[in-house]
Amino acid sequence: MVDVDENPFDEKDSIFEQKQPLKKDTFTPETIFHRDDEIELYINALQDVVVGHAPNNVFVYGPTGVGKTAVTKWVRDKLQEKADSQDVPLTVLGPINCRNYKSSYALVTSLVNEFRLPDNQLPDSGYSTDRVFEFLYEEIEAVGGNVLIILDEIDNIPPDARNDFLYELPRAEANENTPISEAKIGLIGISNDLKFVDVLEPKVKSTLGEREIKFGPYNANELQDILEYYADIAFWDGVLEDDIVPLAAAFSAQERGDVRQGLRILEKAGEYARMEDANTVTEEHTRRATDTIEKDEILDYFEQDLSSQQALTYLATTLAFIEPKHEAATKRIYNLYSSIAESSGRRVKSERKIYEFLDQLSMQGLVRSAEKNLGRKGGRKYVYEVTDDPADIIDAALQSSYSNAVPSNVNEILNHYLEDEATDFEPPDESSEEQQVLWKFV
Ligand SMILES: Nc1ncnc2c1ncn2[C@@H]1O[C@H](COP(=O)(O)OP(=O)(O)O)[C@@H](O)[C@H]1O
Ligand SMILES: [Mg+2]
Repeated sequence: MVDVDENPFDEKDSIFEQKQPLKKDTFTPETIFHRDDEIELYINALQDVVVGHAPNNVFVYGPTGVGKTAVTKWVRDKLQEKADSQDVPLTVLGPINCRNYKSSYALVTSLVNEFRLPDNQLPDSGYSTDRVFEFLYEEIEAVGGNVLIILDEIDNIPPDARNDFLYELPRAEANENTPISEAKIGLIGISNDLKFVDVLEPKVKSTLGEREIKFGPYNANELQDILEYYADIAFWDGVLEDDIVPLAAAFSAQERGDVRQGLRILEKAGEYARMEDANTVTEEHTRRATDTIEKDEILDYFEQDLSSQQALTYLATTLAFIEPKHEAATKRIYNLYSSIAESSGRRVKSERKIYEFLDQLSMQGLVRSAEKNLGRKGGRKYVYEVTDDPADIIDAALQSSYSNAVPSNVNEILNHYLEDEATDFEPPDESSEEQQVLWKFV
């Protein structure tokens, strides 16, 4: 019972000294660990700038949470420092996260406004996109010298901005139709999606990819060093039991080699300890945190990262994967998708669209596909599986705004799947109205 006469809030935090270092994108580490090779490539790609030559364009790619943004900021600061000390004119913009802009117009406006004073900012609308690009070129020419523009998460660049930003912009000084003659533009593009370049036109690809730097996942030892650094700053001395950081590191290494996930585990484990008024963060807190984080991540996909059509496709793939004696072939996924989209009152898109969504899910690592030969009949088909525990995915879907798309008897089916993939459960005859019989769509 809460004593109503007493204020229930605690005055101080006996676990966390500072929480901010564990949070996303709000803390700049003083040291960068285990990225010497990547930093060397970066320095090499940008060396020209320091001596006054035109900058190379750089393409940086790798999965999330492996230090692309952190290393880029570190290199940017060193570069600026050197250029300043050499009196080489250099202006650096960004990293600007493309995820936050819905159109080419919005993105270019934000760049123009980086150059402009607060009382001279461009409005959200009112000009053509071409005109706003001209404003940008005018600003760039006005500052002159080398101008380095860093765009982060370019896999999220608005589709109408791809060509403008990744091709036209870095070549603007060569283009006679722009006012740029003195300034030199370099573009650094960072992508979380390894396949992003594959979808670009060849000319865009070669412009952006003058220099490419690949960031791979961290191994458990590397993660341990990095997490140790953050844990030291974030937790009070002596609060973390010895095996906590290694445990968080081992778990994240097993999953994706992603620092952010490790930081989230530490934060959550600390919160559990705090909730229980414990003096230390224990292995049990950490294991529980790990479990929660896994589920939360899937929930985030449903609520934030996926469009509603992608989310429905993801759910349909999960259902197709767990249902007895069916393979999660594209056709089957489409059938289930149509049923859940319809029964939850959402738009049903064409089968061709679903293939696109499956591709996108696959790029995000949520589903995996294998190609199967159809034997004597000839031809091929794709069979899908989900990469996370289907029980966790269903759980997350039920907690999300897609709960009304989950068939009402999903637990029954899930139990069959969990007990044994080869149960006696007989799927209905293909020719019958199997969707209705097998799945209870509300
Ligand atoms: N090598 C490293 N040394 C120190 N901190 C790191 C390192 N790699 C990543 N981090 C930290 O981990 C978190 C995720 O890294 P980030 O650069 O945002 O990853 P990415 O941009 O690849 O998604 C950030 O808080 C970042 O500061
Ligand atoms: Mg990043």
